Amino acid sequence: MSSRPIGVLDSGVGGISVLKHIHALLPHENLMYVADSKYAPYGNKTPEEIIARCMTIADFLIAQHVKVLVVACNTATAAAIGAMRETYDLPIIGMEPAVKPAAEATKNGVIGVLATVGTLQSAQFAALLESYGRNVRVVTQGCVGLVECIERGELDAPETRALLEKYLKPLLAEGADTIVLGCTHYPFVKAQIQHIVGENVTLIDTGAAVAKQLKNKLEEKGLLSTSREKAKVHFWTNSEAENAEQVTEKLWGNHVDEHRL
Ligand code: DGL
Repeated sequence: MSSRPIGVLDSGVGGISVLKHIHALLPHENLMYVADSKYAPYGNKTPEEIIARCMTIADFLIAQHVKVLVVACNTATAAAIGAMRETYDLPIIGMEPAVKPAAEATKNGVIGVLATVGTLQSAQFAALLESYGRNVRVVTQGCVGLVECIERGELDAPETRALLEKYLKPLLAEGADTIVLGCTHYPFVKAQIQHIVGENVTLIDTGAAVAKQLKNKLEEKGLLSTSREKAKVHFWTNSEAENAEQVTEKLWGNHVDEHRL
C-alpha cells in the first residue's frame, strides 16, 4: 500500500505549485497529477459542477491505485471536499487560503486575499474569516480572468500584468501589508505580484503547509513510501491547447511526458 502513488488534482495547472512542494518534501513518493484544464476555471462554476468534476477525476486517480488524494485547489476544496470525503474512504487533503498565517504575520492589521470568486463566496471561506479574521481587517479580491492567463502559460504578458495591477490596486489602497495568494495558480505570478506591491508587502501561499500536512497524514496512516529511488511524476491533462505540454514543463521546470485524459 505504501508504495502506491499520491494523486494530486486541480482545475488546471495551478496545483503544480503545490506538487513542487510535495516533491521537494517527499522526493521518494511517486506522484500522479491531473489538470482538469478543459473545465478550468472552476472559480465561476457552481458547487454542483465542481463536485461532479472532482468526482470524475478522483475516480480516475483511484483507478490508478493512489493511496491518498490531494485537492491542490482552494476553489475545489471549498466546493467539493465534503462530498468527496463522504464518497471515498482514502485520506483526502485539501487546502484553504492562508488567512490564519496572514493574520499572524500582519504588522498593521490589514490583510488582502486574492482568490477566485467561488472561493470568496463559499461558506468555508466565511467560516475561515469568522475563525481567524476577527482581529484584522480583511480585504478580499476575486481575480476573474487571471487563472486563464496562467493556464495559457502567459505569466508575464501585458494582459496578465494589467489584471494584476487592477486587482492589487484596491488592496494597496486599503494599506494591506500582507497578501494571501488564495488560489494555487497565483504562486506562478508571485514575482510579478511582488514587483507591483513592493518588497515591504509579505505574500503568503499554502503550498508548503499542504505538503507538510500530507507528510503528517502519511506518517499517521503508515503510508510513507519506504523506497529510496527517485520518484516518478506522471502528468495527465484534458487540455485542448496545442502547447499544453510546454506550459506544464514551464511551470514544473523540467521535462514532462504528459498523458492525455
Ligand atoms: N487553482 C484553483 C484554486 O486554487 C482554482 C482556479 C480556478 O479554476 O478557478 O482556487
